Amino acid sequence: MTVVTFFEWLRGLLRRPATAPLGLRQLAIRRGIDVGFAVEDHLLRQSVFANAIRRDATIITAENAMKMGELVKARGTYDFTRADAIVAFARQHALAVRGHTLVWHLQQPAWLQALSPSELRQAMRDHIATMVGRYRGVVKYWDVVNEALSDSGGMRDSLWFTALGKTYIADAFRAAHAADPEALLFYNDYQVEGLGAKADAMYAMLKELRAEGVPIHGVGLQMHLPLDEPLAMSDLRTNLRRLAALGLVIHITEMDVWVPLPATQEKLQAQAAYYEAVLRTCLAEPAVKAIVFWGVSDAHSWIPGFFPKYTAALLYDEAMRPKVAYERVRSVLT
Ligand code: G3I
Repeated sequence: MTVVTFFEWLRGLLRRPATAPLGLRQLAIRRGIDVGFAVEDHLLRQSVFANAIRRDATIITAENAMKMGELVKARGTYDFTRADAIVAFARQHALAVRGHTLVWHLQQPAWLQALSPSELRQAMRDHIATMVGRYRGVVKYWDVVNEALSDSGGMRDSLWFTALGKTYIADAFRAAHAADPEALLFYNDYQVEGLGAKADAMYAMLKELRAEGVPIHGVGLQMHLPLDEPLAMSDLRTNLRRLAALGLVIHITEMDVWVPLPATQEKLQAQAAYYEAVLRTCLAEPAVKAIVFWGVSDAHSWIPGFFPKYTAALLYDEAMRPKVAYERVRSVLT
């Protein structure tokens, strides 16, 4: 090679756009799964956040905008502004949407409390018909009932259970299916990812609902994981298998790994390893079809406000830079 040719070759090499590493979106598409984040509408208007979603997501969940208390200020009066903004962003960027959540014991409008049991059952059915009907064919997955079990595995003493009994669960799924027969309907809960009283109770409940022909298609494992209370991968694998054996689609719906303060480099490395171990275990189960992280940046995580001893639970840091946990998640998807 002549000297001139060499320098042209070298210049060409240096000018060649470094092929940016693939984001989580392309990697997930290649693997045939969905990956994404919980989002707030106001964050989607920030380009750094919107760009991260476009690079790293095939699916998004409304963190709060589709909850009854955020939508329905007075009975029958909805403000869909925030929810519609999230759905519009999803449609613009070819993102699937998880609807979260139709029936929950938190973030309820105050007027629910004053209803009689029969009025409450009707209000639940009306809300489900309104939400699922509005987003029919757009929101593909719904968390129909969220966190119906108590931490010990009994039925949670929620407004719904106290007034309507256990049948509110089947009732809610049937109402959602009637409103959109194509939507996949999920039961969603936390601390049910491994084995134990609550996970066993959820498994039994889902088995019974499926046996009764209730239109329940999937289970959402929230995967909120304190770093200092590790989940046994063998328990997770066993639980995933038994849920899959019920014929359920499994979504990891709200994953975050909580770092005990102070967030040292050593703890952030441990967080990354934990993310990797959990995701490798989940993705080894074919029934696991989606992984959703409960937020993008540590700057907007729910954790510090609710669990002040923990921090830095997500894949991007407070300055929206990918953390080592992000790289390990990418390595799992690659
Ligand atoms: O929208 C109001 C705003 O108008 C008001 O000014 C502000 C201050 O009071 O509060 C805002 O509402 C807050 C809402 O988040 C929206 O930011 C609520 O106070 C606050 O309680 C609510 O927290 C949410 C929490 O659910 C409620 O329990 C978190 O953001 C959200 O990440 C969290 O998500 C839940 C899932 O839905 C279900 N699984 C557990 C997960 C963590 O709790």
